[in-house]
Amino acid sequence: MSLFEQQLREETPRSLKALREAENSCRRCNLYKFATQAVPGEGPAHAPLMLIGEQPGNDEDLEGHPFVGPAGRVLDKALQEAKIDRKQVFVTNAVKHFKHEMRGKRRLHKRPDPGEIEACRWWSKIERELVKPKLVVALGATAARSVFERVITINKVRGRVLPVPDGGNALVTIHPSYLLRLQEERDKEREYAQFLDDLEVARAFASRS
Ligand code: URA
Repeated sequence: MSLFEQQLREETPRSLKALREAENSCRRCNLYKFATQAVPGEGPAHAPLMLIGEQPGNDEDLEGHPFVGPAGRVLDKALQEAKIDRKQVFVTNAVKHFKHEMRGKRRLHKRPDPGEIEACRWWSKIERELVKPKLVVALGATAARSVFERVITINKVRGRVLPVPDGGNALVTIHPSYLLRLQEERDKEREYAQFLDDLEVARAFASRS
């Protein structure tokens, strides 16, 4: 079935529950074939702040929840230090299925390609329309590409609240797994501090009445 045919058959989900179910039977790209399950977004139905990551990792794929693995632990620490309660935030990913390649018995993360990001933007857009967050935080380049519908250079725009083409506002920052990949302690500290600054800008904006 072509993407167009699928689109014609699909009903647009009108609740987060319906969205979760629809995401789990998604065939818009091939990633569903290799993943355990789709990992839907989680959080309050009308959270003022929505965090969008790239895609589920190995742990998220197995558990069915976003940001529960190593990157999630970095994110949790940063949220706590930025005084953002994760329970009040809607946490999701730009791509809902885990893309990976096998290296022996290990499943190694593989970056989603532009077609996969575009296919999954359908769900992300519905998710944003349902939750209507005051601010979306795009964690990394994949999320930023999904939200802004174009390639984004993180360092050119990070930490600023910008209008989104299909409505609302978004702020771009790094993905927490970037911090895990840095080798030098000094670089980690500098990048982590800047990540906290970005999250604080996001908190201030999302808590404005
Ligand atoms: N990385 C992501 O982008 N999302 C997750 O849920 C986990 C790791």
